[in-house]
Amino acid sequence: MTLVFLPLSLALTLLVTKAKIVSPRAAEEWRWEQRVWAEEGGLAVLPCHLSPQELKNSWKMLYHKTAVRWERHGGRAHKETHMVLEVECSGVLKTARSMMPRAMVQNADLRHGDFSLRIEPLQRDDVGQYEALVRYGTATLHCQVALGVVTVTVNIPGLVVETETFWLHCNSSHPGKPVGVQWFHNDSLVPTSGRFLSLSGALSIFRPTMSDMGPWRCNLAYSDGANVSATYNLQILGFSGPASSVVYAAAGSSTNLPCTLNHNPSASGIQGVKARWSNLAGGYLGDSGTSRNGDFTLHAPEVGPGDAGQYRCDVSIRGTTITKEVTLAIIMVTPSIKGPVAEGSHLMLICSLTHPQGHEHFQWRHIDSAYSNRNSVEATSRDLGTQSFLLGSTLELPRVSQKDTGTWECSIHGPEGRLGAVEYGLEITDVQVSGPPPILGGQVTFGLLLFIFLLLMACALVLALWNRRVRSPHFPALEKEIPAPRPGNGGKDGGQEGKIQQTEC
Ligand SMILES: *[C@@H]1O[C@H](CO)[C@@H](O)[C@H](O)[C@H]1NC(C)=O
Ligand SMILES: *[C@@H]1O[C@H](CO)[C@@H](O)[C@H](O)[C@H]1NC(C)=O
Ligand SMILES: *[C@@H]1O[C@H](CO)[C@@H](O)[C@H](O)[C@H]1NC(C)=O
Repeated sequence: MTLVFLPLSLALTLLVTKAKIVSPRAAEEWRWEQRVWAEEGGLAVLPCHLSPQELKNSWKMLYHKTAVRWERHGGRAHKETHMVLEVECSGVLKTARSMMPRAMVQNADLRHGDFSLRIEPLQRDDVGQYEALVRYGTATLHCQVALGVVTVTVNIPGLVVETETFWLHCNSSHPGKPVGVQWFHNDSLVPTSGRFLSLSGALSIFRPTMSDMGPWRCNLAYSDGANVSATYNLQILGFSGPASSVVYAAAGSSTNLPCTLNHNPSASGIQGVKARWSNLAGGYLGDSGTSRNGDFTLHAPEVGPGDAGQYRCDVSIRGTTITKEVTLAIIMVTPSIKGPVAEGSHLMLICSLTHPQGHEHFQWRHIDSAYSNRNSVEATSRDLGTQSFLLGSTLELPRVSQKDTGTWECSIHGPEGRLGAVEYGLEITDVQVSGPPPILGGQVTFGLLLFIFLLLMACALVLALWNRRVRSPHFPALEKEIPAPRPGNGGKDGGQEGKIQQTEC
C-alpha cells in the first residue's frame, strides 16, 4: 500500500508545483505602445509598471530574481535594436555608453513593481521607440513606449539684452503640423498683439523689458489630439535696480553714481561691453571702459552744487545700447550769517536740495550736544509748485547761545527712509553784554552814520525852533512815550529812532 501511495503522492506534489509555476507564466503582460512627451534638457520618464492588482498578486516575487532590460529600436547611431539599460537578476546594472550618466531605473522602485526608465537631461536625439522586458519570478512584462521631444529655442542663446528684439521657437518631434500654438509667460496667456507676434511656432518679442524675465511656455496642439508643451527660462541682461534713480549727496562730499548690470556679461560669454557717462546738458564725463563684472559706477571725489543735475550711463552690449539715468541732488546748508556768529544773533540755517522729487522731507538735528533732543526740529517740504528747483527747510535760532555750538545735521527722508544728510559746524563768538547789539556788517555802519546825521539835523531843527517859539506844552507827554531802544535794529529804523530820541538833546 505504501508503494502505491508514494508515486501517487509524488505525482500529486508535482502537479501542484507545476500548477504554481504555470499560472503566473500565463500572465505574460504587454503594455502596448504608450506615448510620452518630454522637454529637451528636462526629465523624461518612460513608464513601465505593474497594475495594483498584479502587484498584489506578485509582490513576493519582486524581492528576488527581478531582471529589467530596456531597449531602443533604431536611433541616431544604431540601425538595430540595442540595449539602453539592464538590471540583471543578480542586481548588476549595465548602461549603454551613450546613455551612461543620463539613463536610470530606481532600484527601490523595482520592488514596488515600477520599472520605468528615467532619462535626464533629455536630448533631442533620444526621440524614438523604447521597449522594456521585465522578468520577476517566473512572470514577464513587456512595455513599449514612444518618446517624443519638445524644444523651445531662442535665436539669442544665453542672455538677451534689454530692448534687443528676439524670438522663441517651439518645436516638437511630432510628424504633423500643429493646429494650435499658445504661449504662456509666468503661467498667463501671452496676447499675440502689441510687442508680441506669434507665427507658426515662433514668438517674436519686441523691445523686451526686465519684466519679460521668467518662464515662457509653449503649447502645441496636433490634429491627432496630442497636446505638448515645453518651457524656456528667459534671462535678460539689464541694469540692476531701476532704470532711473536719484542720488542724494552733501555738498563737498564724495559720491557714487550707480550703473551696474544685473549679470556679469563676461561670465555669460559676452565680451566688449562698454559704458559712457555724460550729463544731460551734453557734457562728456568719460568712458568706464570694459568692466570685468558689469559695474560701471562713476565715482565723484567731491561734489558741489554745480555738479547737481541729470547724468546718463550708456552701456553698449553687442550693438545694443541701454541707458540708465541718474539724478544727482545736492543737499547744502546756507547760513544767514557768514563766518563766526556772535552770541545773541538771529541766525537762520537754510537747508536746500537741488532736484527735489516731491516726496522728500527735511529734519534738523543738533549732533554732539547735550541738548540734541530738545533741538530736534522737523520740517516737511511744501509749496512744491512754486519752488520746483530749490526746496528747503530753514532752521531759525532767534537768539544764538553757546549751547547751540557744534554740528547741526540736516537730513532728507523719503518714503523708503533716510536719503542723505549734510552737516554744518556752528561756531559762536563771545560778546560783551554792555556792547552794542550784534552788527550786520556794512549795512549797520551805514545806518549808524545816518542815525548820527539825522540826530544832528534834528538838534539843529530843535535849536532853530527854540529860538523862534516858547516852550511847547506837549513835550513832557512825548518824553513818557519814548520806547527803550531795541537791539538788532537795522539801518532803516535809524531815522525813526533819531526823531524819537530828539528830546534827549
Ligand atoms: C524642429 O524639429 C525637427 C525634428 O526634431 C528638426 O528637424 C527641425 O530642424 C527643428 N526646427 C527648429 C527650428 O528647431
Ligand atoms: C515674471 O516672473 C519674473 C520672475 O520669475 C519676474 O521678474 C517678472 O517681472 C514677471 N513678469 C510678469 C509680467 O509677471
Ligand atoms: C493643452 O493642454 C493645456 C494644459 O496642459 C491646456 O491649457 C490647453 O488649453 C490645451 N490645448 C489644447 C489645444 O487642447
